[in-house]
Amino acid sequence: MLEQKCYLRSPLLLCVFICFLLYPAVRAEIPLGSKLSVVDNGSWVSKNGNFAIGFFNISDEPNQYSVGIRFNDESIPYSQQTVVWTAGFQIVVGNMSYFQFTTNGEMVLFDDEGMSLWNSNTSNKGVASASLLDNGNLVLMDREQKVIWQSFDDPGNTLLPGQYLSCDSMLRAATKDLVSSYYSLSMNVSGHLMLRWESNIPYWTSESPSVSNLTAYLTNNGALQLLDKSSSNVVWSVFGDDHNESVNYRFLRIDVDGNLRLYSWVEASQSWRSVWQAVENQCKVFATCGKHGVCVLSPSGTADCVCPFEQTDTGTCLVPYEQKCEPGSTMMTYSNTHLYGIYPVDGPVIISSLHQCMQICQNDSRCTVATFSNDGVPQCSIKKSEYITGYSDPSLSSVSFVKRCSLPFAVNPTLGSSPPTKRAPNFCVPCLIGAASGTCFIVVILQLGFIFWIYRRRNSTRRKDNLASAGANSKGLVALSFSEIKSLTENFKDQIRPNMFKGMLPNKFPVAIKELNASIDERKFRSAVLKIGSIHHRNLVKLEGYCCEFNHRFLVYEYSKNGSLDKYIDDSTLCKKLTWRKRVDICSSVAKAINYLHSECREFISHGNLKCENVMLDGNLEAKVSEAGFAIVDGEAVYCGVSAERDIADFGKLVLTLLTGCRDHIDLCEWSYKEWIEGNAANVIDKRIEGGANSNELERILRIAFWCLQGDERRRPSMVEVVRVLDGTLSVDPAPPPFSCHRPLLEESETQQDNVSESEIQ
Ligand SMILES: *[C@@H]1O[C@H](CO)[C@@H](O)[C@H](O)[C@H]1NC(C)=O
Ligand SMILES: *[C@@H]1O[C@H](CO)[C@@H](O)[C@H](O)[C@H]1NC(C)=O
Ligand SMILES: *[C@@H]1O[C@H](CO)[C@@H](O)[C@H](O)[C@H]1NC(C)=O
Ligand SMILES: *[C@@H]1O[C@H](CO)[C@@H](O)[C@H](O)[C@H]1NC(C)=O
Ligand SMILES: *[C@@H]1O[C@H](CO)[C@@H](O)[C@H](O)[C@H]1NC(C)=O
Ligand SMILES: *[C@@H]1O[C@H](CO)[C@@H](O)[C@H](O)[C@H]1NC(C)=O
Ligand SMILES: *[C@@H]1O[C@H](CO)[C@@H](O)[C@H](O)[C@H]1NC(C)=O
Ligand SMILES: *[C@@H]1O[C@H](CO)[C@@H](O)[C@H](O)[C@H]1NC(C)=O
Repeated sequence: MLEQKCYLRSPLLLCVFICFLLYPAVRAEIPLGSKLSVVDNGSWVSKNGNFAIGFFNISDEPNQYSVGIRFNDESIPYSQQTVVWTAGFQIVVGNMSYFQFTTNGEMVLFDDEGMSLWNSNTSNKGVASASLLDNGNLVLMDREQKVIWQSFDDPGNTLLPGQYLSCDSMLRAATKDLVSSYYSLSMNVSGHLMLRWESNIPYWTSESPSVSNLTAYLTNNGALQLLDKSSSNVVWSVFGDDHNESVNYRFLRIDVDGNLRLYSWVEASQSWRSVWQAVENQCKVFATCGKHGVCVLSPSGTADCVCPFEQTDTGTCLVPYEQKCEPGSTMMTYSNTHLYGIYPVDGPVIISSLHQCMQICQNDSRCTVATFSNDGVPQCSIKKSEYITGYSDPSLSSVSFVKRCSLPFAVNPTLGSSPPTKRAPNFCVPCLIGAASGTCFIVVILQLGFIFWIYRRRNSTRRKDNLASAGANSKGLVALSFSEIKSLTENFKDQIRPNMFKGMLPNKFPVAIKELNASIDERKFRSAVLKIGSIHHRNLVKLEGYCCEFNHRFLVYEYSKNGSLDKYIDDSTLCKKLTWRKRVDICSSVAKAINYLHSECREFISHGNLKCENVMLDGNLEAKVSEAGFAIVDGEAVYCGVSAERDIADFGKLVLTLLTGCRDHIDLCEWSYKEWIEGNAANVIDKRIEGGANSNELERILRIAFWCLQGDERRRPSMVEVVRVLDGTLSVDPAPPPFSCHRPLLEESETQQDNVSESEIQ
């Protein structure tokens, strides 16, 4: 060890050492043109056999592979051969992909369709050879053996012994969930190593002196050091507890939980052991329980996330408050607990007493949570955010207050039989909805942020506009070229609606072809197509194919014989076919389709543009919802930017339209609510319905429709509840006045746009 230290202290020797690392006498050369593929499961191995490059499967999903460098020593079992570097960090590809050292000197990862997803950008830099060095560094060199590119300069989440982390690079935690994808390790210009959440919230800093021109370095004997680049003096260092022991393999990694750990291979136990971690108390890692409430350190030192407030069956924590609580709210006290906001992090801090702290929050309609602490100065920190997380520890003197509001119930959960989702007792639907929308919002924000980040990080993965080949891809969707679309529609001869054409597949299967805004980003479009194309429900119009070529974007849907619902409502003859029973069935079918999108698909999908024009009727007048999930792609905003609550309000409006038969009534909601509350529900229904309506059913449907149309979106029920009310398996209380019909819905979509841009700025 001592030997090692002196070795590094001497600049000359350090240089020799580095040179030794970069130009080892023996190399495992990778010839130009070599190729690795998923199918062959081959690898390029370093000379000493300790490391190998190849494809591997680290995803939980089938058919998702990454290419990268992992430990390869036979003494390490395959499952413990940890991955230390991946091309493109988190890019995954399908089983037909390959990784090639092209003849023009570039390392390129090609996906299933032969498109380049990642490359080393070294095509015209004279690269003549490549090799995987004994320390796990993949280097590309020119004829003079000068390093043009090396994987050590492009780290993912791991640092190997001998690897530097300079001021302009960073380690990022892999993604377990969306919160963890924000953790990173980097060094600022004054030479402090920092763990941060997002770009601006540090939760650990190396307590090192401020020196510029430093670089971080992991030594072979397991010390993380900050070195002065010019003198190679060690400015700061930390060691693992086995620093003096002989250990064959070590690495430093920022883990998915946001902690930075140094690992050593323990031969005896055949496992990796963490010998040092940056943040001693995992609960102090920012937002450790981001979406899961409050962090509690167990006696064994592991961090448990608990839901102190309320919880769904799936383990999602809910918060019992909502902003703009009516007077009459109560404050719940949590001792030894510190709560803080995620969005935003800061809030006003006021000097006050414990009791005052609670009252200030209670009296402030926007306050959701207050934390009181007294470290000499009694301080009250007021949070006006819905996005709260925190930690709890018996040794903590902080006391937190959480506001709880009381609001009317949409549906009475105790009356329903066999609920599809069981929930904690005493839950209140508005709170639940509030929290769920909060959670959803966080998820959306994080997702957008993440997408944005990925976009910035990997603009190299941007695919070229191509793929004109027809043929079913992995999801069973047909990708068509523009000329094929032209021939299917006989040059857009038969226009059904604006931007919608009838076409005929070669097998005489009729299809409806929708033209979308050509400026839709190709990647968004493709990801939406794949998502929508993989879902099937009897009440959803099936997506059969698409065209994504240059500036053409088309969707090919199954053709619905009877057209859309608006036609039936508007036409005085056709509307006779919409009997009371049929209308109830249509409401029910649409609700089921939307519920499927919201909660039964693998991922939440919003419809975004639910209206009569997008409800199709098949041969038996059974309703099928069309254009799910594309409204937003079509507009300017980002895919998935629309909330469940918006769909639910749109559904409420659709129901009223269908019951009243009025498509153009400006004050439809206000008018029908007024009629209903004055006891004239029967006035509301379409006079053209022969035999009128079943009054019990009408009452139930109107009540749930008015709940769906609540101006405060947190009061709106979930689609699961709507389906059950329509089925008659859940009872529903009378709703307060809705007032969320025309203007408010428009405003809502505007605020959503704002949210999108805010989150992108963050
Ligand atoms: C790929 O090769 C590795 C050894 O190099 C082996 O352990 C692994 O099981 C192989 N995977 C497949 C899918 O054959
Ligand atoms: C990849 O790993 C996941 C989970 O570990 C497993 O379910 C899947 O079958 C694996 N795929 C292959 C091709 O080995
Ligand atoms: C590749 O993946 C596809 C889709 O998952 C599967 O059908 C096919 O059998 C796989 N091919 C190989 C060679 O594993
Ligand atoms: C670097 O981080 C340290 C610790 O947080 C801080 O004191 C210092 O001001 C930072 N330097 C710059 C230039 O931001
Ligand atoms: C730090 O590096 C910059 C550029 O590499 C150089 O201009 C500057 O003189 C260096 N500062 C010190 C203190 O070495
Ligand atoms: C390593 O061993 C040396 C000599 O035995 C000792 O002085 C040093 O403190 C040890 N280092 C650590 C980190 O334990
Ligand atoms: C909060 O409001 C109550 C009743 O309006 C009042 O008595 C109390 O002084 C207020 N507390 C604070 C800290 O403003
Ligand atoms: C290659 O260039 C692209 C485009 O400039 C860039 O996004 C990507 O990060 C580069 N790849 C590497 C490995 O640096």
